[in-house]
Amino acid sequence: MPKEPTAVTEPQQPPAPPPVNFANYQNEIYLHGLEGRVPPFTTEATALGASARGHLDAGAFGYVAGSAGSGATHRANREAFDRCRLVPRMLTDATHRDLRTRVLGTTMPAPVLLAPLGAQSIVHPDGELATARAAASLGLTMTLSTASSYTVEQVAEASGAGPRWFQLYWPNDDDVCVSILERARRAGFTTLVVTLDTWTLAWRPHDLDQSYLPFIRGVGTAIPFSDPAFRAGLERSPEEDLEAAVLRWVPMFTGTDKSWDRLPFLRRHWDGPIVLKGIQHPDDARRAAEAGMEGIVVSNHGGRQLDGAMASLDALPGIVRAVERTGTDTEVLFDSGIRTGADVLKALALGARAVLVGRPFAYGLAHGGEDGVRHVLRSLLADLDLTLGLSGHRTPAELTPDDLWHRP
Ligand code: FNR
Repeated sequence: MPKEPTAVTEPQQPPAPPPVNFANYQNEIYLHGLEGRVPPFTTEATALGASARGHLDAGAFGYVAGSAGSGATHRANREAFDRCRLVPRMLTDATHRDLRTRVLGTTMPAPVLLAPLGAQSIVHPDGELATARAAASLGLTMTLSTASSYTVEQVAEASGAGPRWFQLYWPNDDDVCVSILERARRAGFTTLVVTLDTWTLAWRPHDLDQSYLPFIRGVGTAIPFSDPAFRAGLERSPEEDLEAAVLRWVPMFTGTDKSWDRLPFLRRHWDGPIVLKGIQHPDDARRAAEAGMEGIVVSNHGGRQLDGAMASLDALPGIVRAVERTGTDTEVLFDSGIRTGADVLKALALGARAVLVGRPFAYGLAHGGEDGVRHVLRSLLADLDLTLGLSGHRTPAELTPDDLWHRP
């Protein structure tokens, strides 16, 4: 008897998770009211900072809430969202929505990621571990900063099966850089986010007035201090001589600008997607795309770096056009100033594939560790889900610049 040909099975991507009804958090909160319960803290994202202030010492609050110089860029970020308004459509059958979005080849439950925030233990002792657990519980991607209070391995363990990216503050020492990249890759961080706008720290009066910088105190230094290549360059370990370790690390990760011709070095030492963070000029976006970068983050670091820089949202449309003209697949992500669901929609309508959110989840961390981060993220996602529906859309991909009106 001739044998039946056996079916050849192609290797397949894991199936995308089903869509999540994020708006349900609203029902949950109202139903809790029947038992006399209210949310642990405010659901009003723009009020989170003021509310977190009471949970933080002055140094930590200034570090998180503060920005560069006069704060003009931070204000500009928010003002740009205020100038840009949504124009809703009616009778569009938007009852059932699907927020799933494909970013760099992965289907995410919503077009929202956690931005890299360093030194999170100044906000809560569990720091990045709490953030990793909260993000993983919602299937959201966290981005771990090089300036983490915990090691890549510890955060990977806390994150478990959760999706995770790694953000690089590019060390001047190539051996240390490669060693950190290898550890991150081994620990399951899939995408490398290279922050370009912080090669030296800006003038930050909130921190200067209190002589407060976490790294000088050995906070936010867990990754280099646990790194064999970094430790090999020290006469005595960081545990024995903190000051010497700090004095070696701070100039290694801040103080020297790089140039475009250094990007191939990173490509050689990272085999996953690379995303450049801190892009504000269309020509830089074009260069990133032409250099083969898989993505960029249109960001001004939440107004913490170049004082007087334009609002990140105002930079977005020109950058989207510049990247489209290259004909590459480079994806445009966005951060700086995102607070509400409507803010997310506006950035998506202007062409961002997804957004990263920064300070809001740090304020959640200050209020209640992992649960606090989860409350902030669930609130943002519920708001996003409801606002998408009320704007007359069922998926993020339906949004276009025609859904916006700009105040003159
Ligand atoms: C940051 N940001 C940041 N970015 C980065 O690439 N590496 C880092 O270590 C940090 N650290 C950091 C700490 C704190 C306390 C804040 C508030 C921000 C910038 C961050 O990734 C993001 O670009 C902004 O936070 C986005 O702006 P919003 O959402 O805070 O307005």
